[in-house]
Amino acid sequence: MVEFKINGKQVKAEKGETVLAVAIREGFVIPTLCHHDVLGADGRCRLCVVEVQRGNRKRIVTSCLYPVENGINVFTESDDVKLVRKTVLELLLARCPFSEVIQYLAKQYGVNTVRYTKDNDKGKCILCNTCVKTCETLVGVAALGMTGKGPLKKVSTPFDEPSDVCIGCGACVVACPTGHIYMEDRNGFRTIWRKKFELARCPACGRYHAPVEQLEFISKKSGVAIDELLICQNCK
Ligand code: SF4
Ligand code: FES
Repeated sequence: MVEFKINGKQVKAEKGETVLAVAIREGFVIPTLCHHDVLGADGRCRLCVVEVQRGNRKRIVTSCLYPVENGINVFTESDDVKLVRKTVLELLLARCPFSEVIQYLAKQYGVNTVRYTKDNDKGKCILCNTCVKTCETLVGVAALGMTGKGPLKKVSTPFDEPSDVCIGCGACVVACPTGHIYMEDRNGFRTIWRKKFELARCPACGRYHAPVEQLEFISKKSGVAIDELLICQNCK
């Protein structure tokens, strides 16, 4: 067991837990964008910074990656923490000026002007990698990846072409913290990552509910008959 303080409150944690996990459990609010409850942390957005004091030494750390230690003092809203978060948000806002989530967080931290050149080409993507990990680890498909380098780095399907393996499940859309990924369901078809999927219709209520390719994928993996999967969640 590890004992330390968060904003003056004595807390206990298991060895190996992160400061972020313990802070959330203890009711402290730390903003995050790239941390995912199931997929864990990559430390990409840097929004979750906190200040850690050990003895007389203080430093800013990324709380989603920082393991708890005996005797440290953690400050989640010190002046230095707020300043770093403000700078991070200013950079994120310059990269993704149209992201509502980033606009909201920036406003909360008093970022009213952006000193950097705004980028209108990146959409709302902060390159957090959550969609890539979701597709690979949770869905088991690996249709997405990071391509390009430096300012040209982006998330996409291979060669920006409709992916052979994408099943159109939309898990990446749900996981994306900034709402970057476009998906549309219309007239019995789903469009996502430049690929069009036929949606299956529930035989009981007639509602379009999931791409046929997704149901076939689940059927193959789980052994459940496709006829059973065609019935939507509401009618089961
Ligand atoms: S599309 Fe969304 S989830 Fe994927 S890297 Fe960009 S911000 Fe992250
Ligand atoms: S949540 Fe920790 S770096 Fe993004």
